[in-house]
Amino acid sequence: MDTNKRPDTMQRITTPELANAFIDEQITALRAQIGDKKVLLALSGGVDSSVVAALLIKAIGQNLVCVHVNHGLLRKGEPEQVIEVFRNQMNANLIYVDAVDRFLDKLAGVAEPEKKRKIIGAEFIRVFEEEARKLDNIEFLAQGTIYPDILESEDGVKAHHNVGGLPEDLQFELVEPVKLLFKDEVRVVGKALGLPDNMVFRQPFPGPGLGVRCLGAITRDRLECVRESDAILREEFAKNGLEGKVWQYFTAIPDIKSVGVKDGARYEGYPVIIRAINTKDAMTATVENVPFDLLQHITSRITTEVDGVNRVLFDLTPKPSGTIEWE
Ligand code: XMP
Repeated sequence: MDTNKRPDTMQRITTPELANAFIDEQITALRAQIGDKKVLLALSGGVDSSVVAALLIKAIGQNLVCVHVNHGLLRKGEPEQVIEVFRNQMNANLIYVDAVDRFLDKLAGVAEPEKKRKIIGAEFIRVFEEEARKLDNIEFLAQGTIYPDILESEDGVKAHHNVGGLPEDLQFELVEPVKLLFKDEVRVVGKALGLPDNMVFRQPFPGPGLGVRCLGAITRDRLECVRESDAILREEFAKNGLEGKVWQYFTAIPDIKSVGVKDGARYEGYPVIIRAINTKDAMTATVENVPFDLLQHITSRITTEVDGVNRVLFDLTPKPSGTIEWE
């Protein structure tokens, strides 16, 4: 039997009851596959890896070793939430790696988008590899592969191995408990596992994180502007009923300054760009019709609360001709 093929008879997981049945089934299967061996997981805090972590914690407890790499490009509050939920609430065996300086030093002065992505991806593997080498007796690598990853890798669109690229001498047997599930099913399972709503219903976030939203060569000051303005945008969308309604929304910051006025004096600052889009499959996208008074309120908050910013722009461009991200 092809274990990468979803059986035609498999029911779509839409209710807590179906999710609980899936969880019980997976716990039995995971225990049978893993026994008393140890499993390593790169835990980003995204939906897929979080659900895999929560499942494995239930199945094998401390024999799951989670590695959370903070590359400095995460959204505000994300590393703290991973520690709170997994270490404090679920008692996970969690290694937190503060690699912020390491990533930002490597990225300093690099303006070309694809080069930035490559550096972030390669450095991630390197940090993960170093952590894996410090550990003994790891035989398995867990991954948050989901069914669209498998379908896309069969189509040749992308390779689905999230932590692909580990060296030959560091190969593990894979554990992929949600690989036959679609995203909406992963969310139902996550909720049944007790993960917080803002983790389970999180909007998509690119692997290279804020690195592709701090346009051009990343600097620490603009990275902070993007992180803080994104946090304000998310807070205001949540308060105004747009969370869960708009598919993806974020801020980006270009590498230019313009003249403005703050506190009665000339103030050269960065512009912040707001993007808010809807889509089915991310191949095309339309722009959300955000109420104008809300945009004005967000503009006022960003320009007063975020140091270094003096303008806010709203991106009216659908995909095509734009892409969703700016890089
Ligand atoms: P674009 O910008 O291509 O984005 O219209 C389509 C969707 O993919 C996300 N995205 C990425 N996700 N690594 C990822 O994991 C990336 O390098 C990357 N670039 C774009 C983007 O956020 C959107 O949801």
